[in-house]
Amino acid sequence: MGQLTDKTALVTGASTGIGFAAAERFVAEGACVYLTGRREQELESAAEALGDRATAIQNDVSDPEDLDRLFERIADDGNRLDIVFANAGGGEAGQPLDSLTPEAFDHTFGINVRGTVFTVQKALPLLNAGGSIVLTGSSSARRGIVGFGVYSATKAALRQFSRVWAAELAPRGLRVNTVVPGPTDTPGLRGLAEDPDQAGELVDALSSSTPLGRAADPAEIANAVLFLASDQSSFITGSELFVDGGEVQVYP
Ligand SMILES: NC(=O)c1ccc[n+]([C@@H]2O[C@H](COP(=O)([O-])OP(=O)(O)OC[C@H]3O[C@@H](n4cnc5c(N)ncnc54)[C@H](OP(=O)(O)O)[C@@H]3O)[C@@H](O)[C@H]2O)c1
Repeated sequence: MGQLTDKTALVTGASTGIGFAAAERFVAEGACVYLTGRREQELESAAEALGDRATAIQNDVSDPEDLDRLFERIADDGNRLDIVFANAGGGEAGQPLDSLTPEAFDHTFGINVRGTVFTVQKALPLLNAGGSIVLTGSSSARRGIVGFGVYSATKAALRQFSRVWAAELAPRGLRVNTVVPGPTDTPGLRGLAEDPDQAGELVDALSSSTPLGRAADPAEIANAVLFLASDQSSFITGSELFVDGGEVQVYP
């Protein structure tokens, strides 16, 4: 019997990277998983790779009406949720204060913060007592990386929301935790390189900030997400779990 047998999970941003790795791990542990993302083809391919217990629903978390449609669809399927991994997000490099535009600010906050807030809010009516909500933070929120002000601020905001939600939702039997990846070799990270041919160099450069001297494989982040999503972490809420090769704790 798997750790998530008979559980139903929602993973936002699950077509690639960390979200896909988590969805894959959830399915391997016996869960039925709803996967979301904006690009239909990537999403369908991801769900197909995971088999019958994976369902793709195309969705943009930054659009509250689209989020309503997502949860209506899950309810129409006759399902409730035990796990919400609100992971959809990303950012752009090279946004120092002096060249930051309101549009770029709103875009990143709209996906990472507003998208996560309303994903969790709109999931609440479907969440079973005993359920687990996991957010995706970032080790960059503890560091001062030039050009990452907006992105790292979105992740700092999520960290604070998770503390407050842990208190607000405990009476409903829900736990809220944040997984904090360090540099992780995903299409999202590689996409930060201005020149795709230099993506490997970018990953290497970012990895040099970790004592372990490498980037994470998305599956290593998924292991931590599984722990936070499962009953193995039943007495843990409001916490952040760093999966960052020691980046934040060793080189603060
Ligand atoms: N990789 C790292 O080094 C790292 C480190 C710390 C934190 N993180 C965080 O980890 C999370 C996953 O990132 P990743 O590295 O795995 O990147 P990724 O490979 O680019 O995956 C991001 C996923 O989110 C989806 N997505 C993006 N915007 C969305 C939206 N508005 N609505 C719905 N889905 C959306 C993407 O699909 P579509 O584009 O098709 O929508 C994709 O499935 C993000 O929150 C990121 O900030 C990553």
